[in-house]
Amino acid sequence: MDKLIIRGGRRLSGKVPVSGAKNAALPLMAASLLADAPLRLRNLPRLVDIATMADLLNHHGTAVTLEGATGNGTGFGRVMRLETPAIVDTTAPYDIVRRMRASILVLGPLLARAGTARVSLPGGCAIGTRPIDLHLKGLAALGAEIALEEGYVLARAPRGGLRGARVVLDKVSVGATENLLMAASLARGETVIENAAREPEIVDLGRCLVAMGARIEGLGTSRIEIAGVTRLGAADHRTMADRIEAGSYAIAAAITGGRVTLLGAEAAAMEAQIEILRAAGVKIATVPEGLEVSGGDGIRPVTCTTQPYPGFPTDMQAQLMALMCLADGASVITEAIFENRFMHVLELARMGADITVAGASATVRGVARLAGAPVMATDLRASMGLALAGLAADGVTEVHRLYHLDRGYERLEEKLLRLGADVARVAA
Ligand code: EPU
Repeated sequence: MDKLIIRGGRRLSGKVPVSGAKNAALPLMAASLLADAPLRLRNLPRLVDIATMADLLNHHGTAVTLEGATGNGTGFGRVMRLETPAIVDTTAPYDIVRRMRASILVLGPLLARAGTARVSLPGGCAIGTRPIDLHLKGLAALGAEIALEEGYVLARAPRGGLRGARVVLDKVSVGATENLLMAASLARGETVIENAAREPEIVDLGRCLVAMGARIEGLGTSRIEIAGVTRLGAADHRTMADRIEAGSYAIAAAITGGRVTLLGAEAAAMEAQIEILRAAGVKIATVPEGLEVSGGDGIRPVTCTTQPYPGFPTDMQAQLMALMCLADGASVITEAIFENRFMHVLELARMGADITVAGASATVRGVARLAGAPVMATDLRASMGLALAGLAADGVTEVHRLYHLDRGYERLEEKLLRLGADVARVAA
């Protein structure tokens, strides 16, 4: 298992290309199951999770071909062509689903296109229990019969296929909204999703579905209306920029007192992040190439609660906490989405951070310096939080279990090296 060795203290400076968004790419790829015509996705990040989704789709009958580099001159990202002439297997096996929870995104498309699906239950994960009850309730409202058997969800569409319905989600869920959006696109009649998630990744998926022939209104709002069609066709779609990767590099600039241009960052999708970082004293300017971020005038403490979009993203909570470890005063960070997403706290404490957790809130008292240490995390964003702390810490930080970072950050060490960080990947 590889680890990342970071010698902290370098001010990062320069330009870094923002990759395509993992959390947009995964549902976009799953959407290819809905049509027998090819879906061409540009700006897909090169990540382990993308490869896992490609494996899963391949298992269902999708021919996945890489068409080479994006051609955007950055050397990052790729173009993928996905074509599913027929669904050859409607089971998403445990072996693949356990590697990546987002595998659940094939449930809606399989059910809509093939009339049946058998998907392994994803189980809990490092950041919480993460049930899928909302996905199942929503699909049941579209007429699916759902049963649980031997660790698998068995879903069957009624004779004549799924039918449109009004679905009210009890809680805002990105994945449930995506599954329902895809399934309803091929259902008979009209579906309305109330209390839908509004994440930009869902808008990206919706736009791609519209390009494939779906009829969707209200994307980006909490009420999405879908008029089902009988068939979806070919499309060519560019994956949106990764707002979480961009935010993570913004914090890399801020925590090292550096100056970084985030090439291709989409500011409109990052408003809550930009607001919090500005409150923390980070300078952020929109430039034609993306966003320019600079730190260096001290870090101010902030109060922040994670929220569904357009609120501050839970996927940036660990990285923000790393920054607040070095703030001039006490911050309060509340995690309101996942019940167990503070696994980085004790590791940050091992680097000298002063953090007290009470329930869903962490009080972070800024310290003058962090000290490098061997650390490891149990999830992707927590690992990034630790890497960011390492960039600012005195001495050497070793981030173990680098495979977490490889799931969500395209060629992390290469991008950090470009910005002048002293980092190396070594086989542990
Ligand atoms: N929830 C339920 N029942 C459900 C579904 C969700 O109770 O059926 C709960 C969850 O347990 C959680 C909350 O609702 O407390 C929100 O979960 P959501 O369904 O929105 O999350 P997700 O779709 O499983 C996606 C991202 C996550 C990101 C969350 C929240 C992808 C592939 N994953 O997960 O990304 O944290 O939305 O924004 O899009 C990451 O990239 O590191 C990551 C974990």
